[in-house]
Amino acid sequence: MQKLLIKNISTLFQVRENLQKPLRGKEMNDVPFIKDAWLAIEDGVIVDFGTMYDFPGISDWKNLEVIDAEDKNIYPCFVDAHTHIVYAGNREKEFEWRLEGMSYQEIAQKGGGILHSAQLLRQTSEEELFESAKKRIELMIRMGTGAIEIKSGYGLSTESELKMLRVIQQLKNHFSIPIKSTFLGAHAIPLEYKDKRDEYVKLIIQEMLPKIGEEKLADFIDVFCEQGYFTAEETERILIEGNKHGLKGKVHAEQLSHSGGIQVGLKCKVLSVDHLEYATDEDIKLLQKSNTIPVILPGAAYFLNLPPAPAKQMIDQGLPLAIASDFNPGSSPSGNIPMMLSLACVMNQITPNQAYNAATVNAAFAMDIQNVGWIDRGMLANFFITDKSVTPTTFAYHFAHPLIEEVFIQGKKV
Ligand code: NIG
Ligand code: FE
Repeated sequence: MQKLLIKNISTLFQVRENLQKPLRGKEMNDVPFIKDAWLAIEDGVIVDFGTMYDFPGISDWKNLEVIDAEDKNIYPCFVDAHTHIVYAGNREKEFEWRLEGMSYQEIAQKGGGILHSAQLLRQTSEEELFESAKKRIELMIRMGTGAIEIKSGYGLSTESELKMLRVIQQLKNHFSIPIKSTFLGAHAIPLEYKDKRDEYVKLIIQEMLPKIGEEKLADFIDVFCEQGYFTAEETERILIEGNKHGLKGKVHAEQLSHSGGIQVGLKCKVLSVDHLEYATDEDIKLLQKSNTIPVILPGAAYFLNLPPAPAKQMIDQGLPLAIASDFNPGSSPSGNIPMMLSLACVMNQITPNQAYNAATVNAAFAMDIQNVGWIDRGMLANFFITDKSVTPTTFAYHFAHPLIEEVFIQGKKV
């Protein structure tokens, strides 16, 4: 057994004993901590913690490594519950076009956007996709992320969607952080089905899903419910079929317009509804009656210059808001969670503590994991070290500063 003891921690943040549920409304206002703390880890799992004053001492030195935190802080890793990090090439050209005046939708109609990424991905081998996604995850871990959800959705054919999901499978095997995979075949109507969209929906339902179910290649199913993408009715059909193959639902909802994604998602009892820029008061009321987690993606709102999602209202109405990066080549080419916290505070007007809780505890529930995102006995020892001056507010305040000094995954320094 490998044992690690960290002593002299200035502040151990986000300590929550026996947490069972996401934080709702006012519960998001505080971040609990222990001052002058120690943390004990065995075989990559947190086994105990407390204050130095009450430290019981070391009885067994066998296989024990002791680290003196020298009065620095420890935070549990962030959780990124919405990404599209398996992709080929980039979309810098489209970024330039948007700045010359074209809209995201206009670019998409020209064959750019998701379809452009699909064209590139289809030409790229599984090995190359794995290597580039691996580098992105390594970078995300260095930026403090300790669990990631990854979507398919740039394949848009049975062969290429399965290729993406296999890459995610390989990433799960390679990394020791929790990774969840989401089938997003319904991300866009591929060019070859432009005039026969119903056949593409059938392809998803009759061909892709059975294979994915059989090979157990995904944990969740997601649909981009949006004008020009998938209708609410198609979204419902696809989510229902996904459920039949054991995949819990998620929806890309109300991002570019109000398209009914929240309503249909709730009807299908999805785990989360994500984006939400155009969510209405009515939608918030419906969400109050559910266990579905609203996830905002401030990186995409920033990068596409969209109106901010009504996150403050959601928290005020008692919802368990989560934040994720949406890391993808088109609408949010960044996996930097501290930056997302700053964007959420400034653009969505939520408090730094609310944003911090949204990207840790609530994000973990949005990806259906309960072993990263806070400190407790039994949690994976995925955490990072910062200077003692860094509070949860600092991530948003000193935006884009590299505040994270060292990251540990399952108790091992990376
Ligand atoms: O989450 N909204 C749809 N899907 C992605 C964008 C993907 C892309 O542009 O490549 C998103 O923003
Ligand atoms: Fe997305």
